[in-house]
Formats: sequence, structure tokens, C-alpha cells
Amino acid sequence: MQLTKYEEDMYNGEYGEGKAECMEILVSLGKIYDAEKMIPITSAQVSGVSYKTIGDAGLDFVVDLGLKADVELETMLNPAGVDIENWEELGFSEEFTKKQIDIIRGYESIGVMSTCTCTPYLIGNTPLLNEHVAWSESSAVCYVNSVIGARSNREGGPSALLAAIVGRTPYYGNHILENRKADIIFDVDYDFTNEAEIGALGYYAGQIVNDKNPYFKLNTNPGRNNLKTLGAALASSGAVSIYHVEDVTPEADFARYHETFDELEVVDVDEKIVKDNLDGLSTTDKVPDLVCLGCPHASISEIQKVAQLVNGKKLKKDLWICTSKAIKAISQQCGFSDIIEAAGGKIVSDTCMVVAPVEELDYEVLGVNSAKAANYVPNMCKLDVVYDTVENLIDMIT
Ligand code: F3S
Repeated sequence: MQLTKYEEDMYNGEYGEGKAECMEILVSLGKIYDAEKMIPITSAQVSGVSYKTIGDAGLDFVVDLGLKADVELETMLNPAGVDIENWEELGFSEEFTKKQIDIIRGYESIGVMSTCTCTPYLIGNTPLLNEHVAWSESSAVCYVNSVIGARSNREGGPSALLAAIVGRTPYYGNHILENRKADIIFDVDYDFTNEAEIGALGYYAGQIVNDKNPYFKLNTNPGRNNLKTLGAALASSGAVSIYHVEDVTPEADFARYHETFDELEVVDVDEKIVKDNLDGLSTTDKVPDLVCLGCPHASISEIQKVAQLVNGKKLKKDLWICTSKAIKAISQQCGFSDIIEAAGGKIVSDTCMVVAPVEELDYEVLGVNSAKAANYVPNMCKLDVVYDTVENLIDMIT
């Protein structure tokens, strides 16, 4: 691999032992993928934060790194295992929370911003078209590649963190324009009316394409919130890291006018496919005892919609809306949190229904409007799920 003088100096320890170790690992990783060089990055997003998923070994890793090197660019964390500002009210244990706080403090000690979200692009970590970044949460990677048009591989937590420390990542995969072309076309003859339907499409398409790049022909522009939902679903049932939507996403024209486009397989999607996949994501028809929204973390407009739906009502079951601390603060300023809390709901920050130990609380059935959450909750939390639209879920618990 060709390294610049600066990269070689880092590799050889001129900038400290920590950076040298990071470079050594990243160069080895690059060699595995035949990367010809390293590429500078402008931001990072690091998964492997929840104590539920990384345990004590992960905690030790973070604390150990803190002694050797700091990140050198904008780096945010993925959701943690608990809302550390509100853990007691939500019912999480003190022991778990203490470990979670240690992990976050460990990342903080090397300069990582302690905000924990899978939608960093909603709170200022928003690269520009063609910028190279190293992000690791799968829905965030899908969004940054597809909707923003920046370039990231689907990093592991450690490789994103190492990249943040040296400001470089190996140049392979999604960093190379040619690898971002479409591989399979989904011609969708259906007018989507809600997020559960678009999530069902993503869940269906992800299983077909696995790690290939889907190209969607849709009747209408789904909008930012639904594109977030679509990418999360694609990345959970498959390993998709970039998709295109004709006339909507920034590199769709590049994909459409690529010389291979006319030879691609076309999958026709109709209403039946969408509805069958939507219905198939529920594991029970019981009423949820917790409706959990915000997967990926809710935008302010999604919270506004919930506030409108619950305004003046009293919920009979629990309602959580998962989002980042920053979006929660905006929600408070706009009065949405007051409306939601008056109805009995909670804005839960910096964690989510999948990476939190929800299974340790007294819930049996989670209501979700995210195909990704519906896909993961039964396995990761051992709970039943009802998958439906936000309107229908709130109706069920009102
Ligand atoms: Fe984000 Fe958790 Fe969903 S990390 S994408 S809210 S599973």
C-alpha cells in the first residue's frame, strides 16, 4: 500500500505509540481488501457502545485505548445501552448504568463526543457529497452513502475508532466510485402511504440483495424520514451499505447512466409484496405493552408528529420515543416533550429498544414502526413485536 510521508511517519511511531498501532491495524485491514492507499476522512461514527453488546471486554478495550491516543476529528458514538440521564425512571439497573457510564467516559477521554446516536447526520455530523468518512452503525452508513452521497464502508466499531485517531481509512469498497453503481433494480408499482410500508420494502429488498447495491424506482419521493427507515431496513435484513432512489438520491443519475445499468436484473414489486412483508414482521397480534419509536433515532419532525397524535390523550400503555440528546433538547424547546409527557409518553435519549436491556424490564410485546427494530427485537431482546404505523400503534394504546 502506498502511504504518504505523514502516514508513514505515523506508522513508524513519530506521532506516538497509539497512532502507530492504529496505522498498523488499518494498513493490515487495507491489505486484506487490496486497498492501494489510505484516504483522509472528515468524520467518524463509532458503534460498540452499549454495555449490553460489548460487555466487560469492550469496556477494557475503550479504557486501554484512552491511555494511548486521541481522535483527531469529529467523532460521535452509536446509541448506548441506557439513557444515562433518565435510567432510574425507565427502570434500568444501577449496575448496568455504571458500566455504561464508564464506557462513555472512556470514549470521552480520547476526544469522542459523548452524544450517542445512530442519526449523527441529524445533529451536525453531516458530511458533504463525496466526502470520505468512517461510520459504523449500519443504518447511518446507509444514509450517509445513499442520501447524503458521502462515502463510508460499513466499518466495525474498532476500525471506525482507529480511523478517527489517525484521520485515515483504507481506500476500498464504497470509497471508490465504481463500487457505488447499482447492482439490481427494484421497480415498485405501489404508492407508499406510510413508514411501515417503506420499511417492509426495505426488509424485502435487503433479503434479495444482501450486500449488493439496490436501485429503486418509486412513484413518489419518500422524504428524508422514510429514506432513513428504508436504509435501516435494507441494512438489517441484508448488509446493504448504499442504495439509490431514482430522481431522489444524489448518485442515482450516476447509477442510471452507468454502462452496466441496462443489463441489471429487475425485480418487480407490487402491493401484495409490500403488505405480505409488512404483516410478516409482527410476531403476535397482542396489544403492545410498550410502543417504542425512533429506530433509527427520531428526527424532530417525527417527534412533532407523535406530539400531534397524542395531544390531549392519556395513553394506557408505555410509549418511548428514542432519539439523540440534541433532538430531545429541541423537542423540549418546541413544547413537543411536554405534550408527549402529559399523555404519559417519554422521550428517551442516547439509547434504543434494541441495544438497551429492555428484556430485563416488565414488557412482553413491543410495538414498533421500524422494520429494523421488528427484525431485531425478537432475537436480541427475546420479546414479541407488533409492526405497524405510528398512527395505528398509538391507537392501540390509547
Ligand atoms: Fe439505531 Fe438502535 Fe435502530 S442503533 S437504527 S435505534 S436498532
